[in-house]
Amino acid sequence: MTTPIIRIREVHKVYRVGAEKVHALRGVDLDIQRNEFVAIMGASGSGKSTLMNILGCLDQPTKGVYELNGKLTHSMDSAQLARVRNEEIGFVFQSFELLNRATAHKNVMLPLVYSRRHFWGARRRAAESLRRVGLSDRMDHRPNQLSGGQRQRVAIARALVNEPSILLADEPTGNLDSKTSDDIIALFKKLHAEGQTILIVTHEEDIAGHAARIVRLRDGRVLSDNPTSQDPIHQDYVRRSLEAAQRAASTEGVTA
Ligand SMILES: Nc1ncnc2c1ncn2[C@@H]1O[C@H](COP(=O)(O)OP(=O)(O)O)[C@@H](O)[C@H]1O
Ligand SMILES: [Mg+2]
Repeated sequence: MTTPIIRIREVHKVYRVGAEKVHALRGVDLDIQRNEFVAIMGASGSGKSTLMNILGCLDQPTKGVYELNGKLTHSMDSAQLARVRNEEIGFVFQSFELLNRATAHKNVMLPLVYSRRHFWGARRRAAESLRRVGLSDRMDHRPNQLSGGQRQRVAIARALVNEPSILLADEPTGNLDSKTSDDIIALFKKLHAEGQTILIVTHEEDIAGHAARIVRLRDGRVLSDNPTSQDPIHQDYVRRSLEAAQRAASTEGVTA
C-alpha cells in the first residue's frame, strides 16, 4: 500500500466557549489515497467544517494523529503549519474568500507570492491555473465584475496554483444556483480525471453522487464510509429520483 495523502486517527476537537465545551469531533479515523474523489456529508453541526479545517491545517486537533503525505502535522508549530498549508493544501470555501480589490490574476498569484517556491514564474503559472478553470478571458476582472460561478472558479484556480497534494472544498456550491453548481462539479470531475485528489463537503446527495466515495458524519463521528455505489442512503436517493422522473414522464404522456 502506498502512503495515503491523508491519514487521521482518533481525532478529537473540543472548542471552548467561555465555560462551555463543544465536543465537535469525537474520535475520527480517515484515510484518503492519492487521486481519490471523496464527499463528506452530514447534518449541520455534525463536524464537517471542523474536520476540513483540521485537514487543511487551518486548525489543529485537540487530540489524535494527523499525517499529511506521511508527515506528522499535530506537533508542528504555526509557522510550519502555514508552510505545509501553502504548499500541500488547496482550500475552497463556500464564500469564495477572494480579495475584492485585486484582479482574478492577482488573486490567483497570491499563494505563489507567499510561498516563494514559484515566485519567478508566478504570472505565467497563475494564468495557466485560470486557463485550467476556463477563465482565460476574465484574468483582469475583479471579483465584483464576475458571476458567482466565475468567482468560485477563481477561488479554485487559486487553490490549484501551488499544485497541492489535495484540494479541500467546504460546501463549494452552497452559494450557487443549481445550474452553476453543476458547472462547478463538472470542473471538479475534470480536475479529478487529470489526477487531482479532491475532498468535498456537501449536503446535497446530487452533488455527492459525483464522488466515488461518501463519508457520513454524525455528532462528530464517522457514521459510514462507503463507495458511492454501495452507500445505502445514496442508492435510496438515486432510486427515488428515478421513480420521480418516471412518474413525471408518464404524467406528461397522459396529458400530452
Ligand atoms: N470556532 C468554534 N467555536 C466553538 N464551537 C464551534 C466552532 N466551530 C464549530 N463549533 C461547533 O462545533 C460543532 C460542529 O460544527 P461544524 O464543524 O461547523 O459543523 P458542520 O460544518 O458539519 O455544520 C457545532 O456544534 C458548532 O456549533
Ligand atoms: Mg460547515
